[in-house]
Amino acid sequence: MRRYEQPTSMTKSPARDDDSARSAPTLSYALDALERSIADALAARSLVKIGGAVTEISSSSCRLSGLSHFVRLGECVELAGVGKTSLCEVVRIDAQGVTVKPFDGTLDAGLGTMAWACGGVTLSPDRSWKGRTLNALGKPIDGLGPLRQGERAIPTDREPPAPMRRQRVRKPIKTGIRVVDLFTPLCAGQRIGIFAGSGVGKSTLLSMLARAAGFDTTVLALVGERGREVREFLEDALGREKARTIAVVATGDESPMMRRLAPKAAMCIAEHLRDHGENVLLIVDSVTRYAHAARDVALSAGEPPVARGYPPSVFSDLPRLLERAGAGEEGAGSITGVFAVLVDGDDHNDPVADSIRGTLDGHIVLDRAIAEQGRYPPVNVLSSVSRLTRAVLTAEQQKLMLKLREMIAQFEDTRDLRLMGGYHSGADPGLDKAIQFVPRIYETLRQAPEDPLSGDAFQDIARALSADLPEPAGANRLTRASPGTALRQT
Ligand SMILES: Nc1ncnc2c1ncn2[C@@H]1O[C@H](COP(=O)(O)OP(=O)(O)OP(=O)(O)O)[C@@H](O)[C@H]1O
Ligand SMILES: [Mg+2]
Repeated sequence: MRRYEQPTSMTKSPARDDDSARSAPTLSYALDALERSIADALAARSLVKIGGAVTEISSSSCRLSGLSHFVRLGECVELAGVGKTSLCEVVRIDAQGVTVKPFDGTLDAGLGTMAWACGGVTLSPDRSWKGRTLNALGKPIDGLGPLRQGERAIPTDREPPAPMRRQRVRKPIKTGIRVVDLFTPLCAGQRIGIFAGSGVGKSTLLSMLARAAGFDTTVLALVGERGREVREFLEDALGREKARTIAVVATGDESPMMRRLAPKAAMCIAEHLRDHGENVLLIVDSVTRYAHAARDVALSAGEPPVARGYPPSVFSDLPRLLERAGAGEEGAGSITGVFAVLVDGDDHNDPVADSIRGTLDGHIVLDRAIAEQGRYPPVNVLSSVSRLTRAVLTAEQQKLMLKLREMIAQFEDTRDLRLMGGYHSGADPGLDKAIQFVPRIYETLRQAPEDPLSGDAFQDIARALSADLPEPAGANRLTRASPGTALRQT
């Protein structure tokens, strides 16, 4: 597509008294703009329209005849209803016809209504979209007027970059959330999941992560959320970061087609910005709702359910989406992906959670029991893993982190025994140390959304562990200066 350049004479403000000098560039400007719109229109739409007709209608889909040989799965058709057209996606094709599902949930069509093929869903993202809120089809829903369209229309469904051309992921990011920076440290271009049951604290942790420094843009996909939560998240939780955030919203009451499209649209915007050199933070809350929407669509297209009601295509759609996040090719920026995963009934082995965990570069597990103790963020550090820890932490920091983990494991394993009075101090010096230090570690890890972000989590924990140390009895004397040194003595 030809790129439009404003004539240089226009930018130099032509002399006001010279009519011909003023009209010539104006004419060339208008002709150029006309040429560009015609080229765009031709590129977007073929001169030949391919149509079919509705032969069967149900509450959530309809069948069309005459299009079987002309459309592909994932492409769209426009149903020319009375008074309005509805955009639908092709979800099944057979020799007799095609099955389509509408994006807006209601079908305004009768038998014989015409349907026109119109290609796949595309977006034309632009940097000026920062601060704006859109629906899954890229239409603004914030009442701030139309969006400026970017130069290139990009399909929402794309392949991830080729693995051998991707940059390595090794640039550390400080999120400012102590428990994350200590136990599951992140890199730019990493993809991590936040796994928890409902109401445990996923969205709150995501909103805290959205404030992390070092990103040029945050792209936020709110999928299947309650309508109330959308404004709360955008206005209260994001705060000042809203100006650098592009939000794509498909609430729980929208059609499964919109909920399935929203993360892909957000990914498409993030990819565009990454390919223009930006470091993007992509947040999807939640990817499970995307899987639910993909399940609804696949079942209504006739796929059989195979694992707990999920049809096979859901398990190929998930890695296809998640793999698109990550580092770009040489010279491009990166997409750091943070995906909330709602674990149905707190069962961390449900097939969707399992498939997502296997695809991502790490998982942060939130625990309802920890939330019930009022310890927020309720991260279970023993079940959480970042697969890039070695790229982020120094050898010294890794040792300290492992030591802290070991003490927490000891402390938690003996909790019941100690509550029943079955342990007497002095019997196990390692456990004595855990009993002394773990409550301080827990206290340091507490962080509410309104608390300031931490500048250096290791410094914070060092300060907490070495402050006001009581003199321990026996040989295992702890020095006040360095908790790392103190912990190594065990
Ligand atoms: N860091 C925190 N500090 C204090 N309270 C918190 C924190 N994180 C979560 N909470 C509490 O937990 C509640 C639920 O949190 P949140 O809405 O983030 O959970 P969720 O897992 O996203 O829920 P859902 O599954 O319904 O989307 C919040 O209303 C808040 O009271
Ligand atoms: Mg939530």
